[in-house]
Amino acid sequence: MIRQAILAMDRGHQGQLELLEEYFEVIRPQKPDPERTIREHAHEIRAITTFLTPVSRQLIEALPNLEMIAIGAAGLDHIDMKAAKERGIVVTNTPDVLTDDTADVAMMLMLNLARRGVEGDAYIRAGLWHQQGPLPLGRSLSGKTLGIVGLGRIGQAVAKRAKAFNMDVCYFGPREKLDQPYRYYDDLHAMARAVDFMVLTCPGGKETEWLINYEVLEALGPDSMLINIARGSTVKENDLLRALSNRAIAGAGLDVYAHEPQVPEALFTMDNVVLTPHIGSATIETRVQMGKIVVENLLAHFEGRPLLTAV
Ligand code: GLV
Repeated sequence: MIRQAILAMDRGHQGQLELLEEYFEVIRPQKPDPERTIREHAHEIRAITTFLTPVSRQLIEALPNLEMIAIGAAGLDHIDMKAAKERGIVVTNTPDVLTDDTADVAMMLMLNLARRGVEGDAYIRAGLWHQQGPLPLGRSLSGKTLGIVGLGRIGQAVAKRAKAFNMDVCYFGPREKLDQPYRYYDDLHAMARAVDFMVLTCPGGKETEWLINYEVLEALGPDSMLINIARGSTVKENDLLRALSNRAIAGAGLDVYAHEPQVPEALFTMDNVVLTPHIGSATIETRVQMGKIVVENLLAHFEGRPLLTAV
């Protein structure tokens, strides 16, 4: 096979770039003028790899021989899918392998918020156990109601874990899933009013942008908590900050933010939040697999074999 030229927008995952270089001519946008590298190789580039670096219409249109975008993530909201479709460009992603790890992060955030895990760690390190006695009490997960926004693969994996924690599970989404045993709400506000924890696992992008606004948070209420492992764009961040500071909700566990890696500084001093830096799929096992899937999809495409995970 001839060594096709691949534009690697970022390094991708552990081992991915090295594996890619075994089979392809890898072009990396060079600082200080990444656009120049792209212009110089525009006619050679046949595929793009990206983890979470955006692929715009402008970039797609600048590459006349582009055939494929191999995403090293499950989410597609950073790709101009309309522009890709118009050009008939093949798009692949890496779902499934990250489902369990990402669902684990939802549970980790929920447990840490409810049981004050992160807070307890800081409490000991600051010597407060001696000075102030026991940590204030947390809240049980057992017996509580969990509302999942978007019962896709990750949502279902969260539901399974929540059942094992003896929680009652319901969900909201664009349509009822009749093969799922959980209670369906077609009204997000009604579900928010009914639950103790709300976990967002829906896709990002225009369709879910700002789905969670102040009204939804108010409906969730002062004894309930929000967990976001989906996309920052799904939550109106200013509304969340307001709801947290005036205790319209009890707390939030966040793995994703509107403008990563920027995180609103107002969150740093709040005691009712737990923050992680977009680590849903960030385990060695999963990331190595994700990198391999990116390369295997490219090889399949250029060797004329069926794709592993076409979008
Ligand atoms: C990570 O957020 C992903 O979409 O895989």
